[in-house]
Amino acid sequence: MKELHTQRLILRAWEPEDAVFLLDLVSRSQTVQYLGPDPMPMTTFEQAAATIIVRRRAVREHGQGIWAITLRNGGELVGNLLCKPMSEQMQRLIGMGLADQPREIGWHLHADAKGQGYAMEAARAVLDYANKRNVTTEILAIVDPRNTPSLQLCERLGMQRFGSTTGYVSPEHVVFLVPSANDDGQRVRDDGR
Ligand SMILES: CC(C)(COP(=O)(O)OP(=O)(O)OC[C@H]1O[C@@H](n2cnc3c(N)ncnc32)[C@H](O)[C@@H]1OP(=O)(O)O)[C@@H](O)C(=O)NCCC(=O)NCCS
Repeated sequence: MKELHTQRLILRAWEPEDAVFLLDLVSRSQTVQYLGPDPMPMTTFEQAAATIIVRRRAVREHGQGIWAITLRNGGELVGNLLCKPMSEQMQRLIGMGLADQPREIGWHLHADAKGQGYAMEAARAVLDYANKRNVTTEILAIVDPRNTPSLQLCERLGMQRFGSTTGYVSPEHVVFLVPSANDDGQRVRDDGR
């Protein structure tokens, strides 16, 4: 998995020794509160270690981009940035007639690392990387409308509101798309809405 370097960050693969940080990140209700209808904060070190094994396998076997966000200066872990193909099941649930297998982008920052632009810097690096690799599938984010920081991040990244869905989870979620190079901004949903 390619490391991505930005002005302040290095995005790298998750390593087994990151389990303590991962547990600290996802055991906090503020990290998971908008992730699905029944958010379950992680509770044990074993769960974190197992999650890292799954992430490393997903990267190796399915080419999924699940990066640990670290500070370039000192290497401290600050969060998670993913950009991975959406499962067919999830695509069906969303049901917006998206062509091909879209990718989903998502982000989680540790409470101590918020408010410094790290998620935006990491997301830009990943989107630039996808662009350089000529990824032509749609890249989308599915955001709980109460999740103001995430909505703002999508907007700051220049993502476009494409519609909303209740298929993924209830209540209704906002779907944002990364505009493609060929997009004139007038994209029309397949279902006519
Ligand atoms: C969503 C989430 C990643 C956003 O974090 P964030 O720190 O607000 O986002 P950014 O990294 O883009 O930082 C933006 C903030 O940093 C500020 N900032 C400070 N220095 C900055 C810099 N050098 N460059 C850019 N922004 C900077 C911006 O002004 C902005 O603050 P504001 O929102 O008060 O205006 C975070 O809230 C989170 O982890 N939430 C829990 C997980 C989650 O819900 N994920 C989304 C699932 S869809």
